[in-house]
Amino acid sequence: MSRKFLVALGSAALALSLAACSGGGAGSGGDTGDKKPGDLTIGVSMPTQTSERWIADGNAVKSKLEAKGYKVDLQYAGDDIPTQSQQVDQMITQGADVLVIAAIDGTALSSQLQAAAAAKIPVISYDRLIRGSKDVDFYVSFDNYKVGVAQGTALLVGLGLLNKDGSKGTAKGPFNVELFAGSLDDNNTQYFFGGAMDTLKPFVDAGTLKVKSKQTTPEQVATLRWQQETAQKRMENLLTSSYNDGSKVDGVLSPYDGISRGIITALQNAGYGSGAKKLPVVTGQDAEIASIKLINDGVQNSTVFKDTRLLADQAVNAAEAFLQKKEPQANDTKTYNNGVKVVPAYLLPIATVYKDDIKATLIDSGYWTAEEVAAGQAKK
Ligand code: BGC
Repeated sequence: MSRKFLVALGSAALALSLAACSGGGAGSGGDTGDKKPGDLTIGVSMPTQTSERWIADGNAVKSKLEAKGYKVDLQYAGDDIPTQSQQVDQMITQGADVLVIAAIDGTALSSQLQAAAAAKIPVISYDRLIRGSKDVDFYVSFDNYKVGVAQGTALLVGLGLLNKDGSKGTAKGPFNVELFAGSLDDNNTQYFFGGAMDTLKPFVDAGTLKVKSKQTTPEQVATLRWQQETAQKRMENLLTSSYNDGSKVDGVLSPYDGISRGIITALQNAGYGSGAKKLPVVTGQDAEIASIKLINDGVQNSTVFKDTRLLADQAVNAAEAFLQKKEPQANDTKTYNNGVKVVPAYLLPIATVYKDDIKATLIDSGYWTAEEVAAGQAKK
């Protein structure tokens, strides 16, 4: 399996991170060992409330820590880098005992992390790895490369080139596909796009998949801050520039449900999904409720489910270990090099959700109710 795309993206991210590289020592837990939970505060810094996954993550981490008696300072940064830096600075000066951070830009928090290390505050990188700093003590996430493989595979299954069990499908192609990636400043993007492209490459090489726009590099296909509107605009531009000759898009690789909805809106506005013009196969990630309804209605092909409840559990376990002056338990100590060091990680498994999986994976597990799926909206 070629890791060309992953490597290409990795070096771009590395160049960025080296520019922001800091010194400083890793936090070692301060003097928390003999304090009671009620005397300890965990600072939780989340990127944005525009995507429901981060709201669920923030709420889950907060409530699980509070249930154990800890104090929690939960902040959202509105996808604004200076706001996040300021919030983390404030958590440090207000005496946080551990920090849990899901960074907006993986390279932008080096000086905050240096301050945390100086104050002996351990830092847990939450879902998105913080790059270019040796002051990251632990990483909790999912198997991000496998997320990309799952997205590439779902595209192939949707087109009929593969069956769900991985065997060869009956479709022959060729199919026109377009590619979307996430925000390049998010370390996960290289894994998602790399895993997907490693999966799709043999089909591109064989001519079964054609990227008609010829836009295939990470820079060409990236979506700054993962924004739905940005993706919608790009899809509109792709339709105008590459599909104004009567040809049709058959599939779109999308890394995140919000981006998928932007893509689908652009396609619907151009007449896809009505009459003979079938909507292309569109992938996704995060099992957002609006997209689960679209999948249930046969509009979006699939999503990748990452159980944020389990991620919150891991963040809580790691925070508690640091507070008790222990090392959190890692299950991966090789993969996540942040440009300065390999950060020990706990990685959780992922699951692809097609229409047929909604009940077993999302409803039966209590992630969404059947009513929420039917309405396409979360109950407050
Ligand atoms: C997360 C994804 C999410 C994306 C956009 C990534 O870092 O891993 O789950 O879809 O950010 O919020």
